[in-house]
Amino acid sequence: MKKFIVILAIFLADFAFAQTMYINNIKADLMDPQTKKVVGEIYEGTSVEVLKKDGDMSLVQISGAVSDTNKKVVALKKDPFFVFYKLNDKDAQSKDTFLVKTKELTDDELTSWEEIDLTYYDTCSSCHAAHKPKEHLMSEWEAYLLAMQTFAKINDKEKDRILRYLQAFAKDGVVKE
Ligand code: HEC
Repeated sequence: MKKFIVILAIFLADFAFAQTMYINNIKADLMDPQTKKVVGEIYEGTSVEVLKKDGDMSLVQISGAVSDTNKKVVALKKDPFFVFYKLNDKDAQSKDTFLVKTKELTDDELTSWEEIDLTYYDTCSSCHAAHKPKEHLMSEWEAYLLAMQTFAKINDKEKDRILRYLQAFAKDGVVKE
């Protein structure tokens, strides 16, 4: 019994410490925990497990699937669907830890999507009512957006950002409203 309580206490302490937070900026720098050098970039709305808060910086763990076509990219699925982050030089791992600036994190998932939510409705509702992300699967949004890119006059960066938003909120996306 005593042993069980000790194990439970350790489990709860661990659990209370790791907190899920979300990137609250179009993109944020990922830094190496040892060298503190910028090694890549992570995109808005991506969920991270905060292991330690250390003033301006937070040590975070990110899990995902390394893309088959680009080993520096980690996404929700391999294809890649819904990109989490990209490294500059090193090949990525399915689970890794980085430093990010604490001010670029929020504990509220919907807050992290607020800005692109507005941009989406601005960009995609001038000709027809904006289509709700939940109307389609993640894979379908990629094709639709490609077809709409010239209509909406958006560059590839803007297209990729809107695609991440649509895939996150898609029928099979990660955001549960
Ligand atoms: C300049 C006008 C215009 C803009 C801007 C525009 N669309 Fe469209 N969209 C259309 C037209 C016209 C159709 C129907 C004809 C077609 O499918 O090509 C359409 C069809 C669609 C469909 C298919 C509906 C269906 O069920 O077949 C989707 C999804 C869609 N748009 C999404 C978007 C998204 C996302 C954006 C923003 C990136 C966007 N549209 C911006 C004109 C526009």
